[in-house]
Amino acid sequence: MQVQIVDHPLAAARLTTMRDKTTGNAGFRAALSDLTQMLIYEALAGAPSADIAIETPLTPYTGSRLASPPLLVPVLRAGLGMVEQAHAMVPESNVGFVGVARDEATAEPVPYLESLPADLSTQPVFVLDPMLATGGSMVHTIELLVARGATDVTAVCVVAAPDGVKALEDSGHPVRLVVAAVDDRLDGAAYIVPGLGDAGDRQFGPR
Ligand code: PRP
Ligand code: URA
Repeated sequence: MQVQIVDHPLAAARLTTMRDKTTGNAGFRAALSDLTQMLIYEALAGAPSADIAIETPLTPYTGSRLASPPLLVPVLRAGLGMVEQAHAMVPESNVGFVGVARDEATAEPVPYLESLPADLSTQPVFVLDPMLATGGSMVHTIELLVARGATDVTAVCVVAAPDGVKALEDSGHPVRLVVAAVDDRLDGAAYIVPGLGDAGDRQFGPR
């Protein structure tokens, strides 16, 4: 599996803001939005372009556009903080939604929502979720996509744990990971360490 770590001073600065426990909800959301812009920019770096005929004020010109805009799929709740910025970067994209909440006792994913196109066989899909911890929520989401024919899935995350990276690899599904950092480990409650805490709560408050 391809793992692309977005290693840039501006990404590191925004991630530090997100990690800082003194950052409030508004500051956390702003830093996540900024970082999402960088992650999407990098995730699309090798994407194919198609020619488009335009006219400049001076002459006809063959320009380019994104050949296949990805379907954007935020994983609720925390992925909601990424979708507005991702959509601003790729305004021609469609958006699907998946809702998964971890069971706090077992860390198992508990799905509660899916709103996706029936056929995903012809388009790339970007799954947006800041946290890849055990990988349970992401693997569940990818299984929903693969069941609809997806063959080109990118997980766009902020922080991953080694366990989550391994879970994606072991799933055998066609996925690559674009992420700002791979942290050290999970703690006993399956939180990423050093991490940034609960990404849903830090944006929207406790559930
Ligand atoms: C968080 C996060 C991921 C999941 C990662 O969501 O946004 O979806 O945990 O953990 P995993 O890799 O072990 O599955 P959470 O379940 O806390 O829900 P929320 O976004 O609604 O807060
Ligand atoms: N979900 C989060 O929001 N944070 C973690 O550290 C792990 C799962």
